[in-house]
Amino acid sequence: MCGIIAAASTRNVGKLLVQGLHKMEYRGYDSAGIALHQHDSIAHLRTLGKVQLLEDKMIAEKPKSKLGIAHTRWATHGEPSESNAHPHKSQDKVYIVHNGIIENYVELRESLIEDGYEFSSQTDSELIAHLLDLYLNQGSSMLDAMFLAKAKLEGAYAIAAIDLADDQKLVVARNKSPLLIGLGTDEIFAASDPLAIGQLTNEFIFLEDGDVAEISAEAYEIRDKDQNTVTRDITNIDISNQATSKGDYKHFMEKEIYEQPQAVLNTVDGRVTSDDVLDNIFGLGSTELFAKVKRIQIVACGTSLHAGRVTANWLSAIAELPCQIDYASEYRYKNPHVDKNSLLITISQSGETADTLAALRYANEKDYLGSVTICNVPTSALARESDFALFTNAGPEIGVASTKAFTTQLAGLMLLTLALAKSRDLNPRLRGRIVKGLRSLPDVITKTLELKDEILKISPNLASKDNALFLGRGIFYPIAKEGALKLKEISYIHAEAYPAGELKHGPLALIDEDMPVVALAPESEIAEKLVSNLEEVKARGGTLYVFADPSVSIDVNEGALITMPQCDFLLTPIVYTIPLQILSYEVALLRGTDIDQPRNLAKSVTVE
Ligand code: F6R
Repeated sequence: MCGIIAAASTRNVGKLLVQGLHKMEYRGYDSAGIALHQHDSIAHLRTLGKVQLLEDKMIAEKPKSKLGIAHTRWATHGEPSESNAHPHKSQDKVYIVHNGIIENYVELRESLIEDGYEFSSQTDSELIAHLLDLYLNQGSSMLDAMFLAKAKLEGAYAIAAIDLADDQKLVVARNKSPLLIGLGTDEIFAASDPLAIGQLTNEFIFLEDGDVAEISAEAYEIRDKDQNTVTRDITNIDISNQATSKGDYKHFMEKEIYEQPQAVLNTVDGRVTSDDVLDNIFGLGSTELFAKVKRIQIVACGTSLHAGRVTANWLSAIAELPCQIDYASEYRYKNPHVDKNSLLITISQSGETADTLAALRYANEKDYLGSVTICNVPTSALARESDFALFTNAGPEIGVASTKAFTTQLAGLMLLTLALAKSRDLNPRLRGRIVKGLRSLPDVITKTLELKDEILKISPNLASKDNALFLGRGIFYPIAKEGALKLKEISYIHAEAYPAGELKHGPLALIDEDMPVVALAPESEIAEKLVSNLEEVKARGGTLYVFADPSVSIDVNEGALITMPQCDFLLTPIVYTIPLQILSYEVALLRGTDIDQPRNLAKSVTVE
């Protein structure tokens, strides 16, 4: 989604700002822009499409400036176009960039039009520039104008603004949209994503909701929602170049798929003994709280929700706990009943997904025992606002399609399941068996990645089709859903997932020679039944691509049967995810799509 970067420096900042925009490209965007203070004017460049086009414009025009703001836009209000791209301006004096959504924009826009302001975009953001201009004209400083504007704005926002009258300072504001300050030497930055300025500093200050900050090259001042000057902690994070470069891989997604043995190791390492999970790995007091839990509620979105669906099975089998699972975007609208001693679990790679965050905030008002998040970004809002957290330590995930974030979430969620079972003194032998399985998981994933050559043989057959079905049963149904989601989001092939037993209740009508069927057939008590479901597909001309345990036998005719490495059955969902990721990637590669930044999608979905 949208990305903000701003800088006040003693050197030229144009190049730094554009480099920062490049670093945020992974978030998904449709246009980009920059505003650079040049003492007696402000250079304003915007382009529809890739940041590279903006960079080309910068190279041609060579604007020099030590104070500037820049933005990548992901359209919400108004089509992707140059006039809707940020920065937006008022009277060629005030320039702003904005992430989030201004919910009361219609009424504010109307009132500003009555005040004589003309709008040149369809966005909800432009009005912020006019509001600031209005208050500046009434004699306010930019800092005060921002507080006055904030009092009018409803919704989520991160804002950075500059004013022609001041070539030294910029002002930023945060409410429900991520924003941080980065401290350099003789320069200070602001950004919505630490990756944007990770090359420039290791020292970050994460602003809180309601904060407004004034920033110059040498100093910054933060005021909280009550306008009191406050000190916020400085966090040191080393975002190395290595973590944010593709290395020898063609795409970040490819790199992230092949990083999974190490990523899963990073999730499990230091959190288990040889045969059990360690106490309090979710935070001090978590073990004590877990002992009281009688029921679980999971909320998440997209791929993270699929991880939650697998976990619901694990919780029942290992921790003997009932689990309700909801789309985060739906949860708070269903008037949920919260049983006594319920624990809320949120799952999120970014920790900034607006719906998941809103669900947590809603749940915080309810009678939950507490909240736990499984998250990849320790500095995220979800991490800060949850009672307990386990960070997956997967490293930055840049590809829009989640890969290593998903498998590490599953590893973390298995640790949570084990911790809940342990705190209630349940199934010690099973826990020991699973911990051994978790420790050997990186090796099993490495072996699974070696299936690439076999997958390469089948990818052209899927790449030439417009539809695909994914089948799995029980704990593999969410994995089939994840496989279908991966394929559709990066290759734009329409893909659906079904529990295989549901086929004859409708979807079987779709089967013909143009419908490839990808099936997951691990060894389990339902393998035999799954094989019968697959026979039904074959009998109707469907081509089968089956990922199976060595013990499963099925004749796939001209399709393919790919034998999977073995591991503890309860951990096989993690392993069976890997070939589906590789398959989607290779199919998308053949179809020539924009794999790391698929159309219309954003990495961090910070609007509801
Ligand atoms: C799909 C994908 C999305 C995210 C979803 C939630 O590959 O990445 O479905 O899983 O937008 O994002 P997080 O996990 O950051 O809350």
